[in-house]
Amino acid sequence: MDNNFDVIVIGGGPGGYVCAIRSAQLGLKTACVESRGTLGGTCLNVGCIPSKSLLNLSENYHNVLKHYNGLGIEVKNVKLNLKKMMMRKEKSVSILTKGVEFLFKKNKITYLKGTGSIVSTNKVSVVSNGKKIDYNSKNIVISTGSKPSSLPKIDIDEKVIVSSTGALSFSKVPKNLIIIGGGYIGLEMGSIWKRLGSNITVIEFLDHIVPGMDQDISKEFLKILTKQGINFKLNSKVTRINVQRDNAIVEYINNQTSRKEIIEADNVLVAVGRKPNTKELNLDKLGIVCEKNGKVKVDKNFRTSKKNIYAIGDVIEGPMLAHKAGEEGIAVAEIISGQAGNVNYEVIPGVIYTSPEVATVGKTEAELLKKGVKYKIGKFPFLANSRAKVNENAEGFVKILSGYKTDKVLGVHMLGPNVGDLIGEIALAMEFGASSEDIARTCHAHPTYSEAIKEAALAVDKRAIHF
Ligand code: NAI
Repeated sequence: MDNNFDVIVIGGGPGGYVCAIRSAQLGLKTACVESRGTLGGTCLNVGCIPSKSLLNLSENYHNVLKHYNGLGIEVKNVKLNLKKMMMRKEKSVSILTKGVEFLFKKNKITYLKGTGSIVSTNKVSVVSNGKKIDYNSKNIVISTGSKPSSLPKIDIDEKVIVSSTGALSFSKVPKNLIIIGGGYIGLEMGSIWKRLGSNITVIEFLDHIVPGMDQDISKEFLKILTKQGINFKLNSKVTRINVQRDNAIVEYINNQTSRKEIIEADNVLVAVGRKPNTKELNLDKLGIVCEKNGKVKVDKNFRTSKKNIYAIGDVIEGPMLAHKAGEEGIAVAEIISGQAGNVNYEVIPGVIYTSPEVATVGKTEAELLKKGVKYKIGKFPFLANSRAKVNENAEGFVKILSGYKTDKVLGVHMLGPNVGDLIGEIALAMEFGASSEDIARTCHAHPTYSEAIKEAALAVDKRAIHF
C-alpha cells in the first residue's frame, strides 16, 4: 500500500468520517484512522444512535403499557423482553456503522484500523495489535472526540457506577437508578429507564435542569418530567459514592441548606459532561497548544498551532454535538482543498430526544439581555395546535425571539411533539436571515405540528389566530 496521503483524519466519528468523505469528494487522497473497530465514533456506537433506538423502543413499550387501552386498542399481557430490545438496538447500530464503512469504500478512503498518534507534522503512526506503521500526510485532521467526565473520587466501573455507555447496555432494569447531572444525557437516559420501570432520581448541582437552555423551556420541561414520575434533587452536589456489593450509596449536599443526604440505588449514572480525547495524540511533544480545559486550540480555519494540522468536533471549543462536528469536518476538507469552508455557529440546533422533545437554536433571552439586544417574543402552546390535540400530544410550546426593530429571528426554543425535526425549518430560516414576519407569512400545511411555529411567529406581532 502507498503510505502517502493528502489528508489523514484521526478519528472516525461524525466529525472525522464526514471530513474524510468530503476530502475524498474533493479529490484529496484520504485516510481515516479509527481504533474502535467500527466507524461512527461515540455517536453511532455508544451515543446518539443507540440512545435514540432505546428512546424509541422504550416509548413504544410505555405507550402500549400505559396508553393504548385508553385509546380503544386493547392489548393484554404486555411484557418487556430487555434482551431482545437490546439486540434491536445493536442491530440498528451495526447497520449504520457498516453503512459508513460502505461510504468509505465508495469514496476510496483508506480505513486504517488502530490507534493513531502524530509523530511529526507530516507523519501519523498507527498501532494495531502491537504493530506500528507510519503514514505520511500533507495534512492531518484531529477528530478524536470526547469521553465521559467523572467527579473527584468517583470511579466509573461500568457495572454499578456507569457512564452513558453502561447505561445503554444494562442487562436488567435497575429498580432504582440515580442519575448525576440533569443535562442532555441524564434526561434522555432517565426517560428510557423510567419507561422501562426504574425509579429515577436525578441529582443536579444547579437550581434548574438543562443549563444554558431558555428558562421557560427549562422550567416547563422540569414540570413535565416530574409529572412523568422522575424525581429531581436540584441544588445538590454529589460528594461521594460508596459501592457495597451490587449497591451504591450516594452522598450529596444540598447547596442551600448544606445538609448532607444519602440515597441508595442499584446503579448510578454519572452524566456531568464530557472531556476531550487527546491523550494518545502526542500533542505536547509536537507543541500543539491546548486550552485550559484540555481542548485543542484552533484559529477560525480550524488550524492548530501547526499550520497543516487541524482539529474539529468535541476536541475543540463549542457544543459537543455530532452535527456541529460534521459541519466542521466539511469546512476543514474544503479549506484544505483551497475553498472557503465555514461554519455558522449562530445556527447550531440542539435537541433533547425525550418525550416531549426539546429543540433550540440561536440565542436565549438571557444571552440577548446580557448583550443588551432588544427583542420581541412570540409564544404559542401546542395545546392550541389541532394536530397535537388529536394526537393527544399537546404539551409544550414554541417560543420565537426576534429583533425589536429588525424582526430578524434571533432564537427559537421549543418543547413539544417532534420539535427535533421541526427545528430544521427554523435553522433554514435563520440561515437565510428570515424575520418572524417571513415565517408568519409562509403557508404551513394543516393539520401539522409545524403550524405552531407559524402561530408563534404571528404571536410576535400579537396576531396568533388560534390562541
Ligand atoms: P451536560 O453538560 O449536558 O449536563 C451535565 C449536568 O451535570 C449539568 O446540568 C451540571 O450542572 C451537572 N453537574 C455537574 N457536576 C455535578 C455534581 N457534582 N452533582 C450534580 N450535578 C452536577 O452533560 P451531559 O448530559 O453529560 O452530556 C455531555 C455532552 O453530550 C453534552 O455536551 C451534550 O451536548 C452531548 N449530548 C448531546 C445529546 C443530544 O444532542 N441529544 C445527547 C447526549 C449528549
